[in-house]
Amino acid sequence: MQKFQKESEKSLYKRLGGYDVIAAVVNDYVSAIRADPQFSRFSGGRGTDKKNRDLQLNIDILCALTGGPCYYMGRDMKTSHVGLGITESEWEANMKYMATALDKSKVPQKEKEEVLALVENFKRDIVEK
Ligand code: HEM
Repeated sequence: MQKFQKESEKSLYKRLGGYDVIAAVVNDYVSAIRADPQFSRFSGGRGTDKKNRDLQLNIDILCALTGGPCYYMGRDMKTSHVGLGITESEWEANMKYMATALDKSKVPQKEKEEVLALVENFKRDIVEK
């Protein structure tokens, strides 16, 4: 898994403030998406356990990607989103929610941009339309 880390500096994971900050950001991001009617077609028929599982996998993938001590056990991004028909405008809204969640946790601009760039890398695997 790609790590956004230079030899000379601390991992992005550490610069973000570690696990608790990543968990807070992902919680805020996922809560905002689930509260937005634009995304309601994705939540039908999913119980609490499935929602919690997806939330935890989102935390794990960001923790692992930023160089943290987590192991992502989920499916790759193409496999887990294929067939959902995620659109460009849904992607744009998703990126705004991620940026807002990073701001809410007061992540500095440099680290915010690095996280957004890591997430943006998934676009080609997630957006279908
Ligand atoms: C418009 C944006 C997105 C939408 C609508 C979306 C929607 C979904 C849905 C509906 C699932 C459950 C699929 C299933 O199991 O049936 C899922 C799984 C998942 N998504 Fe997304 N997603 C989006 C973006 C992202 C991004 C940016 C990330 C990573 C930062 C991400 C990470 C994950 C992970 C880790 C899983 C679980 C994979 C697994 O079950 O193994 N998603 N997503």
